Amino acid sequence: MRIIKARDYNDMSKKAANMIAAQILLKPNSVLGLATGSTPIMTYKYLIKLFEDETISFSDVKTINLDEYIGLNKENANSYYFFMCNNFFNFINIKPENVHIPDGTAEDLEKVCSDYETMIQENNGIDLQILGIGNNGHIGFNEPDLKFEAVTHCINLDEETIKANSRFFENEEEVPKKAITMGVKTIMNARKIILLANGSGKAETIFKSLYGKIDPALPASILQLHPDVTFILDKEAAYLL
Ligand code: GLP
Repeated sequence: MRIIKARDYNDMSKKAANMIAAQILLKPNSVLGLATGSTPIMTYKYLIKLFEDETISFSDVKTINLDEYIGLNKENANSYYFFMCNNFFNFINIKPENVHIPDGTAEDLEKVCSDYETMIQENNGIDLQILGIGNNGHIGFNEPDLKFEAVTHCINLDEETIKANSRFFENEEEVPKKAITMGVKTIMNARKIILLANGSGKAETIFKSLYGKIDPALPASILQLHPDVTFILDKEAAYLL
């Protein structure tokens, strides 16, 4: 496990983008696991810059997103599909067929979950997974639980997550109560993982995830067992370490 302490959010984002760029340069057909949330937004901006500079190309890259709200269609500004297009995909040369995000509007959501796992396997797994972290220690939408949920599944969002994510919606009522997320095993099967966190609000969760008991009540704690994980933290998120 590596911990990189960045000066600030900008530096954290630049360091993350550089690591992702190195992955793409060394393996142009990399499979990237991608995250949403406010944390990776600047990382995507730096990757777009590296693409515009012609340092990297996404022409052979495949992306697989962690999660999606249930019930929001692609045109909904709060869907993760919309987020990814708006913050990243619209500005790079990725092929639409190489983008994967669970469909939270499908009738048969169980099938969406099992098909997602099959798709990941058919792509030979994820080379590099980017993660943010929820205030309650969730990764993807794997909420605190009594056990680690292995594969892609549907979940009920925690009250705390609904509250935290309501800042993107008009009001709390509009936040979907359910989502589809990769499971903890799906995430742990990625060959490399980078977890990003910034801000003092994440400091305690980061400390517990790195040094606390490995416990499904704090899903990110399982990352202690991953053979190639890097936490990139700004000063504030790292202040308890
Ligand atoms: C969301 C996403 C996670 C993300 C987390 C943190 O609910 N499902 O993938 O890491 O919350 O979000 P933020 O980066 O906005 O703090």
